[in-house]
Amino acid sequence: MNIKLIDELGKSVESVQVLFNKEIKQSRFLQKNGKEFLEIKISDKNKINQRKWIILCRSIIQTAKANGIKKLIINWNDLISFENLNEKASLGKIFAEAVEMANYEFRKYKKKPKDGWQDVAEVLLITKNFKGNKSQLKRDLQEGQVISQQVNYARELSNISGGDLTPSKLVQEIKKVIKGTKIKIKVLEEVEMKRKKMNGILAVGQGSKEKSKFIILEYRQGGKEKPVVLVGKGVTFDSGGIDTKPHPHGLEMMMDMSGGASVLATLLVADKLSLQKNITVLIPAVENMPSGSSMRPGDVIKMSNGVNVGIGHTDAEGRLILADALVYAQKLKPQMIIDIATLTGASVVALGTKATALMTRDNDLANKVEELAEATGDYTWRLPLWEEYENDIVGSRGDISNINTKAKPGEGSTITAGIFLWNFVKDFERWIHLDIAPRMTADANEQLSKGAAGPAVRLLVELLKK
Ligand code: BES
Ligand code: MG
Ligand code: ZN
Repeated sequence: MNIKLIDELGKSVESVQVLFNKEIKQSRFLQKNGKEFLEIKISDKNKINQRKWIILCRSIIQTAKANGIKKLIINWNDLISFENLNEKASLGKIFAEAVEMANYEFRKYKKKPKDGWQDVAEVLLITKNFKGNKSQLKRDLQEGQVISQQVNYARELSNISGGDLTPSKLVQEIKKVIKGTKIKIKVLEEVEMKRKKMNGILAVGQGSKEKSKFIILEYRQGGKEKPVVLVGKGVTFDSGGIDTKPHPHGLEMMMDMSGGASVLATLLVADKLSLQKNITVLIPAVENMPSGSSMRPGDVIKMSNGVNVGIGHTDAEGRLILADALVYAQKLKPQMIIDIATLTGASVVALGTKATALMTRDNDLANKVEELAEATGDYTWRLPLWEEYENDIVGSRGDISNINTKAKPGEGSTITAGIFLWNFVKDFERWIHLDIAPRMTADANEQLSKGAAGPAVRLLVELLKK
């Protein structure tokens, strides 16, 4: 989408002017005196704060798309004159992110209509009466577009069917997309993972015909500083394995690599914004399938740090691949490790589809991330990782189990997964775990198209910048 600043109305006659109206019941398209307008409903019951403003900006695009309008013209001053908007926030960035994200739709498997796709091609912002800094606004808009284009790229990858984006195909795709960037790729094949005893990853992938891959991406623009390591779950399809998911729970499990997609997208943004940072991205990529060679319930797996894990449930696979990745991450002597994963259905039960579950024992880091979550729109909510939970997975047949065998299904299982991961980063303080299962798909009320939501990219980018 093309976003441009213009001085006055009237230059672009073919654009539809956007008006805001508190009186109407529903946003609408109308013609008056031979001109075309989009009237956007604003509910004054709820004063517009930043959260509501993001939705408002997206709803402009959704209304335009529903009416087949390709070019819009908005008075920037009208759009930002709400008393509950924070003047210090980069509204240009937030606006650009909102409209780009609202414009995206997954169309890979759809036939193009004769008169083309209905999306918005251009937004002109009138800044005649804008008292703020115009060149700063331009920069903010640009940055917002760079970020949201990568959010949409993460959504695209997540939406692709499991069969069309296997671990090998994901590797090919990444090699293609990093061409011409400062990002370097290294892929550990199964033989190398065997040598490194990364048996968690190997065990999860062993039931699939598809070869597992451990993808390592490096971006080195931060001189001698220690790297930030981002770990993203890359289960390209999660059938549950031998403990197979019943219908319809498998239907969205092509998106079980959303964590991997988000860390990849974040790294691409870092490159495009030329961040002066050292960042390493780790994506354990596997397919979790039932077959004669699958890992079995009751198997015991020796992980890369020597801990024996009893398999209580083959569908609790994400934590197994992340554990090996976290062990690997610590060897890189990082300043911080963040893992991000569509890890538990229980987090969706707890939070619905509106917030990522955040877990860490580092209170400073938690506070920082929560603040940035609010600022970027990638909302999070913290769950505890208390010592009291450690016992829940101790014992069984190995040192620890991959589920809490003493609890009813689902009971506290987001925290169980967090505590499981903690067992592999015990000695490392600056670690944070984000369970993005609640944000894997868009919420019905957030004015985004159905399907993958591209969680936490905006948040991670901001965290890297700080
Ligand atoms: N990928 C799923 C979690 C998931 C569920 C993500 C729904 C997004 C939406 C994960 O691998 C899984 O299957 N978790 C199990 C763990 C259980 C067996 C302890 C779950 O949450 O049911
Ligand atoms: Mg699973
Ligand atoms: Zn999974």
